[in-house]
Amino acid sequence: METTLYYFTGTGNSLACARALARGLGDADLVPIASLRHHERIGVPTRRMGIVCPVYFYSLPLIVRECIPRLDLSGVKYTFLVVTMGGLPGLAIEHGAELFRKAGGELHAGFAVRMFANYIAAYNVRGERAIRAMERRMERRVAEIVRIVREGKRHLRRGGPFERLLGRAMFRWFGRKFVDEARTRDKRFTVDPSCVHCGTCAYVCPVENIQLVDGLPQWLGHCEQCYACIHFCPVAAIQVQGKPTRLRGRYHHPAVSADDIALQKAARPKAT
Ligand SMILES: Cc1cc2nc3c(=O)[nH]c(=O)nc-3n(C[C@H](O)[C@H](O)[C@H](O)COP(=O)(O)O)c2cc1C
Ligand code: SF4
Ligand code: SF4
Repeated sequence: METTLYYFTGTGNSLACARALARGLGDADLVPIASLRHHERIGVPTRRMGIVCPVYFYSLPLIVRECIPRLDLSGVKYTFLVVTMGGLPGLAIEHGAELFRKAGGELHAGFAVRMFANYIAAYNVRGERAIRAMERRMERRVAEIVRIVREGKRHLRRGGPFERLLGRAMFRWFGRKFVDEARTRDKRFTVDPSCVHCGTCAYVCPVENIQLVDGLPQWLGHCEQCYACIHFCPVAAIQVQGKPTRLRGRYHHPAVSADDIALQKAARPKAT
């Protein structure tokens, strides 16, 4: 293998993007970050490596923030980060660059790919046409990223001055607090009587943060806020307290299944 692509995903956008990157780069191995969450050190077996994950709260998911400093980058020559997002990446790429420095390496390239926004605590999901537009946009963007990565270029996305200002302000005002509390924000999840006790929520959770008690989900306080449980529940029974999520749609990337999300936590023998 020439490239290792580490990914984290809740509703499949980042996995779809990682798969497209792997196709474009050729000879790339996809490794779920959730499968490495208990590894103290993560040996990177290739000279080129990338991370693909969503933006959460104008930054990176905690599981990704905690993964990067554990990477053994001694044999790595080129690193890149691709964040998928709804519209505003905020400080996600800057935070990625800081974490790579902490790991004793360097982030050579950082990209943002606008996809379908899945944060239904704040807004509704959009319709079918928007999904098709997202797929076309992603393919185009991935082709550009592949070209830059293949050439081994430095390319850290910074956004325009207004976007930078807004991203910084949003992280300071909201993001930081939400990131700090992310793990226990699952206490705001509730389940409706319409629950059919199917166990899908516990099955898909990439970090085993749900146990079923008398057929109903109970959240265990080490949540990543990925929203997989909310979006994959077949009867949309999981809500976010105080938010109109009952009135909102559910979404997952059309090419990504519940099995794909669930399998992220499967242990992989390769990592050290
Ligand atoms: C908890 C949470 C926070 C989010 N915060 C942001 C954000 O700050 N900026 C943004 O553009 N999108 C944000 N989003 C949207 C996701 O980044 C976007 O939908 C992403 O593509 C989802 O990736 P996934 O399908 O791989 O999980 C957020 C989503 C969630 C669930
Ligand atoms: S409990 Fe739900 S939101 Fe939290 S990590 Fe698991 S699937 Fe994601
Ligand atoms: S996925 Fe939905 S219906 Fe199934 S157990 Fe969880 S909350 Fe209940």
